Amino acid sequence: MAIMIDGKLVSAQLRQELKEQTSAFIAQTGVTPGLAVILVGDDPASAVYVRNKHRACEEVGMYSAVHKLPAETSESELLALIDKLNADDAIHGILVQLPLPKHISEERVVLAIDPSKDVDAFHPSNVGKIMLGNYRFLPCTPAGVMALLRHYEIEVEGKHCVVVGRSNIVGKPQALLLLEKNGTVTVCHSRTKNLADITRQADVLVAAVGRPRFITADMVKDGAVVIDVGINRLPDGKLCGDVDFAAVEEKAAAITPVPGGVGPMTITMLLQNTLRAAEK
Ligand code: GUN
Repeated sequence: MAIMIDGKLVSAQLRQELKEQTSAFIAQTGVTPGLAVILVGDDPASAVYVRNKHRACEEVGMYSAVHKLPAETSESELLALIDKLNADDAIHGILVQLPLPKHISEERVVLAIDPSKDVDAFHPSNVGKIMLGNYRFLPCTPAGVMALLRHYEIEVEGKHCVVVGRSNIVGKPQALLLLEKNGTVTVCHSRTKNLADITRQADVLVAAVGRPRFITADMVKDGAVVIDVGINRLPDGKLCGDVDFAAVEEKAAAITPVPGGVGPMTITMLLQNTLRAAEK
C-alpha cells in the first residue's frame, strides 16, 4: 500500500504558517498583502476556482478583490483594468483566470501584467527567470508539487523523473523544477512513442495530461512516487485525476489522491506568491 500524500493536510499547515507570516508582515509594515483576481465570463469551473482563491486569501488575512467581467468584455477594457491594477499600491498580485473568451488574446493579457505582480508566474520575464534558476515567483501548481515532495522528504536528486504533459502552466515548469533539484528528467506528451516504456522507468512520475485515469498500473514501476496533477470531471459529476488511483496505489510507494492531493497546494502557493510580492 502506498503512502498517501495528503495535500489537504500539508496545505493546512502551510496556510497556518502563511497566516502568521502575513500578520507579522502587516504589524511590521502596516501593509496588507492584496491580490486582485479577474474573471471574464461565466465558466462554472473558473468561477469555483476564483471563489476558492478569494476565500483562501481572506482566511490568511490577505486582501482580495475579485473583478467579475462579462464574457463580452473587450480586450482593451481588460487591458485597461490590468493597467489600473498595475498602478494600484494596495494590490501586490494580479491573476487573470484562464481560459479567457476566444476574442481576447491570452498572450497580450499576460504581457500586460507587471511582472512584479505576476503571482501566476506566466509573464515571459518570470518564465525566463525560472529557466535561469533566479526566480521570484514559481507557477503555483508545479511549486505545489515540489512543496509536497519536500514535505514528505522525497528526494529527487539522481532519480528518473518522468513528466507526462508539456503545458506552459504545468509540464514545462515542472520539468525545470525537478531538474533544478538534480532529477534526471524526461518530458513525455501526446506524440511520445512507447509512452508506457518510459513511464515504467520513472522513480517519480508526474501526470499532467488532463485525461481521466490515463496512467494505468501497467505504466508504473513498483515503488514509484506518483504525483497526479489532473482534475477531471466525470459524467457522474465526480472528480478524478489522470491516474487510475485504485490500481496504481497498489504498486506505488507514495501517491497523491484526487481530490486532496496537488489541488489544495496550488492555492497555497498563490498565497505564498502574493505575500512574496507584497514583501518586495
Ligand atoms: N486556469 C487554470 N489554472 C490556472 C492558473 O493556475 N492560473 C490562472 N490564472 N488560470 C488558471
